[in-house]
Amino acid sequence: MRVINGKTTSHMDAAEVAAWMEMHSGITIDLGAGDGRFVRSLAKSRPDRGAIALDLCEANLRAASRTAPANALFVVADALALPDELRGLANRVTVNFPWGSLLRGLIQGEPGLLAGLAALANRQAVIDVVLNGGALAETNWPLEMGAERVVASLRSIGAKVDSPCLVGREDLRDYPTTWAKRLAFGRDPRGVRIVARLG
Ligand SMILES: C[S@@+](CC[C@H](N)C(=O)[O-])C[C@H]1O[C@@H](n2cnc3c(N)ncnc32)[C@H](O)[C@@H]1O
Repeated sequence: MRVINGKTTSHMDAAEVAAWMEMHSGITIDLGAGDGRFVRSLAKSRPDRGAIALDLCEANLRAASRTAPANALFVVADALALPDELRGLANRVTVNFPWGSLLRGLIQGEPGLLAGLAALANRQAVIDVVLNGGALAETNWPLEMGAERVVASLRSIGAKVDSPCLVGREDLRDYPTTWAKRLAFGRDPRGVRIVARLG
């Protein structure tokens, strides 16, 4: 899979990924990681765990990848066609404020995304998704109905899904991603959090 570190791009094969994983007591994978700050701060706060930021956009990941500790990886890939090297790796998968094909994939139950999610997560993994009202509105879904669609998608891969929780300005302000901060101070600070468990 394609990994970036600042301006450098390299390739990690399955054996290298497995060796990196062995050094950590658990792995979080953040899909649609944006600028990767969430993963960098996770990696700093839990040096014993690995954290992987995955996004389509290489340029956005560069700055955080340059200053992150060694227990963070920054992967350029499409969440709808996840790299095989990541199979069975994650104890926790986060998807924070998805848009574009990632959001549509969750709402429409895109088979590539769901198969990848199921394969990525190990047997007891938690999948933690936070959606925002503005992004859903752009895809013509009201917040609650969009959330229901995502719940149905996660159930279709056998996940047990908690009742979605509404999140507001205060929650967003404390949520450690760049997009959460932007939304917290914007015009539409509504969101919904969906937590699901596999296994
Ligand atoms: C609104 S941003 C949120 C970024 C970050 N999670 C945050 O909270 O700050 C949505 C991100 O999803 C990424 N994205 C959209 N579709 C994707 C896909 N199919 N695979 C990987 N990333 C995707 C975009 O490149 C963008 O960085």
